[in-house]
Amino acid sequence: MIQITDLRKTFSGQDGRAVAALDGLSLTINKGDLAVLMGPNGSGKTTLLRILDGQLLPDAGRIVWGNSAASLPVSRLKVSVAHVPQDPSALAFPEMTLAEHLLWEELNGRMPRFWRRGITARRLEKYRMLLESYGVPALAEALPRPLNTLSAGWRQIFLVLVSAMRSELSRDRDASFDLLLLDEPTSALDAENSRLCLELIKRLHGEGRTIVLATHDPEVALSLRARICILRSGRLVADIPAAELREDTLPRIRALIAGLEATL
Ligand SMILES: Nc1ncnc2c1ncn2[C@@H]1O[C@H](COP(=O)(O)OP(=O)(O)OP(=O)(O)O)[C@@H](O)[C@H]1O
Ligand SMILES: [Mg+2]
Repeated sequence: MIQITDLRKTFSGQDGRAVAALDGLSLTINKGDLAVLMGPNGSGKTTLLRILDGQLLPDAGRIVWGNSAASLPVSRLKVSVAHVPQDPSALAFPEMTLAEHLLWEELNGRMPRFWRRGITARRLEKYRMLLESYGVPALAEALPRPLNTLSAGWRQIFLVLVSAMRSELSRDRDASFDLLLLDEPTSALDAENSRLCLELIKRLHGEGRTIVLATHDPEVALSLRARICILRSGRLVADIPAAELREDTLPRIRALIAGLEATL
C-alpha cells in the first residue's frame, strides 16, 4: 500500500509567483491497484508521479510505503519504481542505444566500468528474441539505435516494454514493492501501438504490478478496467472505482473534467 497524505509541492513560476502543483493531495494506492490519474492540464498528475519515483521532493506531506513506519525517500526503500515520463526529453540517458537500455535494466542500474562491453552477440540475440516475443520485431531491428533517434511513439512503447521485461531481464531484483508509473503512455501512439500498449499494461497488471497511469482519455481507463482518480488544482476531487466504470458513465466523467479549470 502507498498512503499519501496531505502532499504539497509549490513551484515558483516565471513571474516569481508561487504555483501550488500539489495542494494537500491525499490518496491511497493498494498493492496491485491499477489507478488512472485524470484531470485538466496543470492539475498535478506529472508532479505526483515525479514525487513517487523520487525525482522531486515534496514540500510537505507524507508518503508511507507498505509497512514502513516512516516516509523515507524512495531511494532508501526496497521499492522498484519504473517511470515512463510524459516528456521524452526528461529521459535520463537519451543517447543510450536500445540495447544499452536493456543492459542497464538487466544490470539493475549498476554500471561497472566498461559496462558497454556487456553487449555481446549472445545478449543482443536474447534481447532480439524478447522484443519479438512481445510482438515488436521493428524494435528488435532498432537495438543498435540511440533511443532519442526513435519517433516519440516508438520511444514510449519501448520504455513501457523495458518495464514489462524487467523480471525477465534481471532476476536479482530485491523489491518489496513493484510500481510502474506511466505518464500519458498512449498520448503519442497510433491506433495499432495504442492497442499494443494497453495490452502490455493489462499483462503487467495481471502479473501483479501496481500501476499508476496519467491520461486524458477516459477510454483508456475503461479499456484497462481501472480506478479513476480525478485531480483538480493539486487535490483529489473524485475517486471512481473500476466497478462503476461503464461505457455510459464516460460522458459524465468527461463532463466532470471539462468543468474543472486548467492551470497553466
Ligand atoms: N518544474 C516546474 N517549474 C515550475 N512550475 C511547474 C514545474 N512543474 C510543474 N509546474 C506547475 O505545476 C502545475 C502542475 O503541473 P503538472 O505537470 O503536474 O500537471 P499535469 O496534471 O501533469 O498537466 P498535463 O495534463 O498538462 O500534463 C502546473 O501549474 C505547472 O505549471
Ligand atoms: Mg502531465
